[in-house]
Amino acid sequence: MTLFHMFLLFPCLKHAMRHKLQKVLAFMCLCLWWSTCIHVEAANDSLKPGDTLNLDTGPVYSKKGNYYLCFGWLDVGYNQYLFLSDINNNYVVWMSDRNQPVAGDSAVLSLNLSGVLKIEYQRGKPTILYSPPQPINNTKATLLDTGNFVLQQLHPNGTNTLLWQTFDYPMDTLIPTMKLGVNHKTGHHWLLVSSLTKTLVNSGAFSLEWEPVGQELIIRRRGKVCWKSGKLRNNRFENIPEDAQGVLKYSIVSNGDEETFSFTSTNENITHFWSLSDTGRLYYNDKEGYVATADLCYGYNTDGGCQRWQDIPKCRNPGDVFQKKTGYISYQNVSLEGNISYGFSDCKASCWSNCHCSAFRKMYSNGTGCIFFHRISAENYTFDSAGENFYLLENMLTNHKGTKKWIWIGAVAATALLAIFLFTICLAFKKRKFVFQGKKRQRMVMKMLHLATCSRSSAMKDFEVDLKKGNGLKLFNYTSIMAATNEFSTENKLGQGGFGPVYKGILPTGQEIAVKRLSKTSGQGIVEFKNELTLICELQHMNLVQLLGCCIDEEERILIYEYLPNKSLDFYLFDCTRGKLLDWKKRFKIIEGISQGLLYLHKYSRLKIIHRDLKASNILLDENMSPKISDFGMARIFTQESVANTNRIVGTHGYMSPEYMMEGVFSPKSDVYSFGVLLLEIVSGRRSLGCYGADRPLNLIGHTWELWKDGASSELVDPSINESFDSDEVQRCIHIGLLCVQHYADDRPTMSNIVSMLTNKSEIVPLPERPAFYVGRKIIHDELSSKGFCTESTIEITTSTIDMTDS
Ligand SMILES: *[C@@H]1O[C@H](CO)[C@@H](O)[C@H](O)[C@H]1NC(C)=O
Ligand SMILES: *[C@@H]1O[C@H](CO)[C@@H](O)[C@H](O)[C@H]1NC(C)=O
Ligand SMILES: *[C@@H]1O[C@H](CO)[C@@H](O)[C@H](O)[C@H]1NC(C)=O
Ligand SMILES: *[C@@H]1O[C@H](CO)[C@@H](O)[C@H](O)[C@H]1NC(C)=O
Ligand SMILES: *[C@@H]1O[C@H](CO)[C@@H](O)[C@H](O)[C@H]1NC(C)=O
Ligand SMILES: *[C@@H]1O[C@H](CO)[C@@H](O)[C@H](O)[C@H]1NC(C)=O
Ligand SMILES: *[C@@H]1O[C@H](CO)[C@@H](O)[C@H](O)[C@H]1NC(C)=O
Ligand SMILES: *[C@@H]1O[C@H](CO)[C@@H](O)[C@H](O)[C@H]1NC(C)=O
Ligand SMILES: *[C@@H]1O[C@H](CO)[C@@H](O)[C@H](O)[C@H]1NC(C)=O
Repeated sequence: MTLFHMFLLFPCLKHAMRHKLQKVLAFMCLCLWWSTCIHVEAANDSLKPGDTLNLDTGPVYSKKGNYYLCFGWLDVGYNQYLFLSDINNNYVVWMSDRNQPVAGDSAVLSLNLSGVLKIEYQRGKPTILYSPPQPINNTKATLLDTGNFVLQQLHPNGTNTLLWQTFDYPMDTLIPTMKLGVNHKTGHHWLLVSSLTKTLVNSGAFSLEWEPVGQELIIRRRGKVCWKSGKLRNNRFENIPEDAQGVLKYSIVSNGDEETFSFTSTNENITHFWSLSDTGRLYYNDKEGYVATADLCYGYNTDGGCQRWQDIPKCRNPGDVFQKKTGYISYQNVSLEGNISYGFSDCKASCWSNCHCSAFRKMYSNGTGCIFFHRISAENYTFDSAGENFYLLENMLTNHKGTKKWIWIGAVAATALLAIFLFTICLAFKKRKFVFQGKKRQRMVMKMLHLATCSRSSAMKDFEVDLKKGNGLKLFNYTSIMAATNEFSTENKLGQGGFGPVYKGILPTGQEIAVKRLSKTSGQGIVEFKNELTLICELQHMNLVQLLGCCIDEEERILIYEYLPNKSLDFYLFDCTRGKLLDWKKRFKIIEGISQGLLYLHKYSRLKIIHRDLKASNILLDENMSPKISDFGMARIFTQESVANTNRIVGTHGYMSPEYMMEGVFSPKSDVYSFGVLLLEIVSGRRSLGCYGADRPLNLIGHTWELWKDGASSELVDPSINESFDSDEVQRCIHIGLLCVQHYADDRPTMSNIVSMLTNKSEIVPLPERPAFYVGRKIIHDELSSKGFCTESTIEITTSTIDMTDS
């Protein structure tokens, strides 16, 4: 249990109280209140028969006040546990059940008159922690200064019998006098088990155990020994760095009853602890250094106590190492492991054992599940500090050739090891710094959110939950945004988005940003702000615009994005001169990029998302004219049913699918429809709502369909594309475009079909059915807007909201 988990904002407050406080008090008051609470209530260290502990009574503190036991929240999530922690919240010593949070606010820990220690709930079965064979009434449960919560039977002659203790059920942290090993009489094993991920306390893959035969400590990953400390000699373990065991005194018990290991410190003023991390690293004193690095123990590695794996596949070589990368990687050939019991190390081991797999990353934002990338190399990866984290297999010992092969290998290995060593040291330092900054930032986010909550806006009250992951989000202060945008001057204005103006800004660091300021008057703004913020935080893909952060200041709600110098697609597409800048190659690249971005949204992002407002003006272009989908203000998460119904229809005329426009039904296929329209616009350089056709007015879709039927679809191609182009590719695009705009959603292809049809020339493309809005479109459009649709193609296309509840 590391500090990371222990972001205890208000661990032992009553839930209702917590909410009330959130509403009325600013963060500062909270801090004051909380610290007062600690000092005032530090009175009782024990429970007598009939006593209870719940949110109202507050924690039980040890006599010295160095440990406490209470019901509370371990992170900013809503899961509540009964846990025992040190007073500085550095580690958790014990938890009632890490895999099963206690339900609701009504949980009560009680020691009843029969000597039963249990957690009761308003509803449901109680959790029995200890129940004596016969009822006994002379018991007492005490939280000792060692961090052990013990239940004892008190005899009239003055002696006590130990009935139950939390030290028998460790989490992932070993503290002085806590045991590892086995009790031969009861068969009880004492071992540490790591957490599943950095943010989930559920049992994970690694365990730290005492191995009595070899007299050594071992770490297992999913049952297989991956690290050994070496035999204990002269109070020292061979494979544990000296600074991690400096002041420790080990004691070994080995008799018929039990074989155990424990340590004490020769300096009583410091509490030493060893914590097993989710990746298999055993830290001492909250990341001051490490006792063991089992995270590096896979495959051939035998350094520092690592155990070579038995079943190494032939395709893996010595020196193959997964390196952490940040940036973007092609999602072309991936496979998924949706098992939510899979953490980082499980993904790593699976990837290593599968010869096709060359990189992996987590699937869900809580760190569980895996995405495996097949046949990928460093060439398929682009560095970007704002990108996703993933792990790419690289060989650290390449270039071994010639007759003096072994010398070379030795030299390279030595260098690599030195490099790894230095790298690890750097990393250790960097990590410490990072952890610190991370915590600080998280606090800042919380502080900001509390201020936001206090600013009377009810729409903000769920913010805390939605933003708890905080994914790399930066908080900007209002003055710096004012300075960056020249006080929102009109020269800096880039345009008007659906819910407010967008400005260009330059940070003091020189970084250019795009600043979207939500209209204060727009009541919807807040909802869209929150929506965009929470959704886009989760999304990272090279074809999606990157959110850098936000700014909340009194009534101001501001979103800050990366700045893209080349404006949006419509700026080029619908202009005869600028259209010439987009040759067919560029256009095809844009089409591919958009399809990749959408595929990611629909399929590979953690939250499956429908964009709902895909159009040319929402496609931004970077300096290489690569497309990035923007504006997630209207995006929605979709669930298994993948079809949702809404009363509020938002979208842009010309891009909305018929089922959405007429019935309010949306699904990923609505995005596919919009994509189809966009595709035809890119090929033709014309707006979908324009007037085309020689003898009768047709929209772009109708016009395309007529040409297609007559086998004359090449006439559709934008005359601005004056050089030669791949007419096969153009035909394919028009064909796919028509498939996308088919009337029935079920007929339309999925984004994965589209991506493979676009990239794979031999893929069989089915023939399209007659498209939607081919006839009758005029009526629909006239109903929606009093503007005549059949004007010149310069018609102003805006986002419209139709409230179905009114009709
Ligand atoms: C704490 O101890 C005092 C006096 O010993 C007692 O009156 C009180 O009920 C105890 N509180 C709890 C929660 O056990
Ligand atoms: C104590 O709890 C146990 C288990 O819930 C129950 O069987 C027993 O009757 C209780 N004793 C008293 C005195 O309430
Ligand atoms: C505890 O139980 C004993 C018998 O087992 C009984 O004599 C005594 O009165 C009980 N004490 C209380 C406080 O209930
Ligand atoms: C005290 O009493 C208990 C139970 O009555 C007994 O098991 C224990 O041996 C006694 N201890 C001493 C020192 O007499
Ligand atoms: C522990 O702290 C006490 C009081 O602060 C001090 O007198 C003592 O020397 C310290 N012991 C060690 C080993 O540092
Ligand atoms: C994708 O990966 C699988 C192995 O899982 C492989 O069989 C297949 O050929 C790969 N496809 C491409 C296009 O690389
Ligand atoms: C998920 O993974 C865990 C741990 O490896 C395994 O025990 C469990 O059987 C898996 N579940 C499924 C449904 O594959
Ligand atoms: C982690 O996230 C996944 C997907 O959201 C969810 O199904 C799973 O229950 C989460 N795991 C835990 C332990 O909360
Ligand atoms: C990776 O890059 C190579 C070389 O650029 C390319 O041939 C290959 O298709 C790419 N693989 C994937 C899965 O994108």
